[in-house]
Amino acid sequence: MASTFVFFLLSTLSLAFSPPEAEAQSLPPIVNGLSFTFYKSTCPKLESIVRKFLKEQFEKDIGLAAGLLRVHFHDCFVQGCDGSVLLDGSASGPSEKDAPPNLTLRPEAFKAINELRVLIDNACGRVVSCADVVALAARDSVFLSGGPQYRIPLGRRDGRRFATRNATLASLPAPTFNISTILSILSRINLDAADLVALSGGHTIGRSHCSSFSNRIFPSRDPTMNRAFFDHLRFTCPTASSTNTTPLDFRSPNAFDNKYYVDLVNREGLFTSDEDLFMNSKIKSIVQSFAVNQTLFFEKFVFSMVKMGQLGVLTGGKGEIRANCSARNDDKIAIWRAMEKEGDKAVY
Ligand code: HEM
Repeated sequence: MASTFVFFLLSTLSLAFSPPEAEAQSLPPIVNGLSFTFYKSTCPKLESIVRKFLKEQFEKDIGLAAGLLRVHFHDCFVQGCDGSVLLDGSASGPSEKDAPPNLTLRPEAFKAINELRVLIDNACGRVVSCADVVALAARDSVFLSGGPQYRIPLGRRDGRRFATRNATLASLPAPTFNISTILSILSRINLDAADLVALSGGHTIGRSHCSSFSNRIFPSRDPTMNRAFFDHLRFTCPTASSTNTTPLDFRSPNAFDNKYYVDLVNREGLFTSDEDLFMNSKIKSIVQSFAVNQTLFFEKFVFSMVKMGQLGVLTGGKGEIRANCSARNDDKIAIWRAMEKEGDKAVY
């Protein structure tokens, strides 16, 4: 009886003192103009709409989660998280989507963003930016694949222009790059080695085409690669030009967990940019710590994702809320709407 009482007391106390989610997690500073309650009054159902829709979609295709997570990364690294990666090319030139690193983004991910956009518009009107939809979809992709649950600040606005092919290429690290080259790209956007190791953990889900790691298996085995893993990859990619795909984390391809780091420790990382994290004497210890402690990885991943998700954001009156995530709002329509508003005020 006494022990039942003590158990009851302890459980009650732990419930009463468990801190709310945002306080429990260590987060980077929040950029001015973004907030955790941004759509509280204008679109209170936003997060439940996104979660419900993605849960249904992932039951049909769990690969979509990886696709959505990568879209957010490719959006943020190229001129900030402004939804520019979603824009289709126009007469003025090819868009970011047409640049080589983005050609392997999944079309299903772009489709899902557009479908979400329609659902959100129907519920709330055009108040939520496409950049925020991308950020929320990435966040839920992590959680619904077994990763951490966390909150992200919202209030991003959509950019009105996409980056050039060269700017896109210069902003996104290639899988063949070594760590010092990648760190110098990251330093331009204020990300460091700790962020790189944690964010690379995104490779715990999803797939890669043979072309992205052919430098490690052709013409011969990269000596830092485990021999059995090499044999397995050469079976999947019999020639350097093979168009086949393989999971990024073969231990648990669809689960968001810390197995990616276990792969690296066993020399079973897919890209040079992955395995080099373990070969680098300065950051090897971070990889090892994540390989043995998933909670630690989740904590650092959340921190760096919230940091990445705020890169170069447009807030307040900057940018726009796109009507269609694949195209910027038509200038003529915007001017016409403004004139209409002025007209409302006019006395005839
Ligand atoms: C260090 C920089 C990074 C490099 C060089 C890199 C490179 C790549 C490459 C080459 C692919 C495979 C593309 C293909 O052949 O289909 C890929 C896939 C992927 N990347 Fe990264 N990546 C990096 C960082 C990140 C970050 C920061 C995230 C997210 C936090 C991320 C998430 C993903 C995901 C989820 C996939 C699988 C996509 C799918 O299955 O459709 N990557 N990455």
